[in-house]
Amino acid sequence: MAISDNVLIDAWKQVLTLSQLKAGDVVTVLTSDTTHPQTLRTALVAAGSLGARVNRLDLPPVNGEKAHSRDSLAYLGTTPLTGNRAAIAALKESDLVLDLMTLLFSPEQHDILASGTKILLAVEPPEVLARMVPTEADRARVDRAAAQLEGAREMHVTSAAGTDLRCPLGQYPVIQEYGFVDQPGRWDHWPSGFILTWPNEAQANGRIVLDRGDILLPQKRYVGEPITLTVKEGFVTAIEGGLDADLLKDYMASFDDPQAYALSHIGWGLQSRARWSTLSLYDREATIGMDARAFEGNFLFSMGPNNEAGGDRVTACHIDIPMRHCTVRLDGQVVVENGRVIGNPLYQE
Ligand SMILES: [Fe+2]
Repeated sequence: MAISDNVLIDAWKQVLTLSQLKAGDVVTVLTSDTTHPQTLRTALVAAGSLGARVNRLDLPPVNGEKAHSRDSLAYLGTTPLTGNRAAIAALKESDLVLDLMTLLFSPEQHDILASGTKILLAVEPPEVLARMVPTEADRARVDRAAAQLEGAREMHVTSAAGTDLRCPLGQYPVIQEYGFVDQPGRWDHWPSGFILTWPNEAQANGRIVLDRGDILLPQKRYVGEPITLTVKEGFVTAIEGGLDADLLKDYMASFDDPQAYALSHIGWGLQSRARWSTLSLYDREATIGMDARAFEGNFLFSMGPNNEAGGDRVTACHIDIPMRHCTVRLDGQVVVENGRVIGNPLYQE
């Protein structure tokens, strides 16, 4: 259902306040053809009313002719910022960038963050943003999960459907997504609520069995029959099953890139206001599927690049797969049991 501008302005004010926006800060709102008009106009009002100096930078879309889907995460790599010195300079000079167009996975984004600019991505529909306005409690929960993941040497994922995957850890950082940007140089995504890292290069091995109801993104499809993925030395080497497996294989083959099959980020969802079933209620072009990525207790893994974590793998293909009913162990300790988050015993959950 639609929501009022007042509700979304209040939501923006909460996000901007949590992001420590101060009067006089320079905020640049980054927009493109797919930017939601209500999200844009309420962002401008909220940031302005908190005393920020607000700019708008509108850039043309790219890669539409290469992508096989309209999803903004369906084709990664070059962005409207690639080679655009003037735009990059404007964003680096901003204290906060509100990304209403999706810069994710671009080298330019890293460059801008390294200058100390904060970037907050917000591209889900207004009512989804309003339902999942981030809170301090969201950050605290993600922090507790990060404390579990930091320093772990191995993530072992199993399921009754047949998943048995071992991912040695330690090479790449732990990344927290809780929906606001409270430190210089921080990137985050509203809405979110999950923890992730990457397996050590070429060391993940095992089998992943996607069961009925697990979700493929950017396909935005619930798997209807099992898909078995064989993982050898960090790469998915076989995708087997029925129609759903064939559709996934054909889509990935369209990129003609062996790097597309590398295991990418791995982690679990912590957002109780995100729901597994929400994706079934939306047109596929109306959402990028953050409910699916963030719902509490899902094991979220992906295939594709690792440049977001500081690695050198770049590929235009990126598949995110939230799975239900998995058990996740870190060095033998259960942190998610059959799709249910187990609290960090060092903290009050
Ligand atoms: Fe992803």
